Amino acid sequence: LTPQDLAGLDVLVTAGPTREPLDPVRYLSNRSSGKMGYALARVAALRGARVTLVTGPTSLIPPPGVEAIRVETAREMYDAVLQHFEQADLVIKAAAVADYRPQDVSSQKIKKQGQDMQLQLTRNPDVLAELGRRKKDHQLLVGFAAETNDLEQNALAKLTRKNLDLLVANDVTIPGAGFDYDTNVVRIFGRDGEVESLPLMDKNRVAQKILDRVAKLLTTRRGA
Ligand code: PMT
Repeated sequence: LTPQDLAGLDVLVTAGPTREPLDPVRYLSNRSSGKMGYALARVAALRGARVTLVTGPTSLIPPPGVEAIRVETAREMYDAVLQHFEQADLVIKAAAVADYRPQDVSSQKIKKQGQDMQLQLTRNPDVLAELGRRKKDHQLLVGFAAETNDLEQNALAKLTRKNLDLLVANDVTIPGAGFDYDTNVVRIFGRDGEVESLPLMDKNRVAQKILDRVAKLLTTRRGA
């Protein structure tokens, strides 16, 4: 029987990639399938939480009992997440949000022009950093980091800079870890200094482990 240890909790999960349009038929995006975020939403709902899933474009079906909000761009994700942030007790940001978008979006299909072509990009808002600034004492914030090098150093920097309670880092150079696989290999860094290194496992199992850490934090807080 699944424990109902997240009953009564409002959980906001983000998943999938964002798409940043260039013209009516083209966009910039990344390889996120949404599997990690959907697994977190599914497991949180099974453990009794009320779950809102803000999702970029994926081919997945939202888990039963989860309210799904579909977005395309990083700015749409930013708006949807901020709209639901205040009522959330826990936010988990598994989405792979584009850091940059094309500066100009052409209203017509861009035509071939010469041998080379330049694209001007501009920064997107950092959703997670904004949540870190707005976070209230009762709210828990869990970020992800997809790294190809200096995993520990980058993870710890994100944990403090973005004011997170937990950071889940995946080394996306390991076969079976990160984008599009059914499995992942993660290390969970806590603000308390506790680090948990997990072996290769199914993303549903990874989601259980992340939510176990969350449940532990909640118990400690309630006891404090
Ligand atoms: O979807 P899957 O195919 O299952 O793959 C899962 C995953 C690899 C996408 C997932 O496990 C993961 O690592 N997600 C975060 C990917 C990422 O964009 O990492 P990052 O290091 O660039 O971003 C760090 C954190 O800041 C993330 O929580 C991200 O959601 C957030 N962010 C980033 C940029 C931005 N503009 N706004 C953000 O909120």
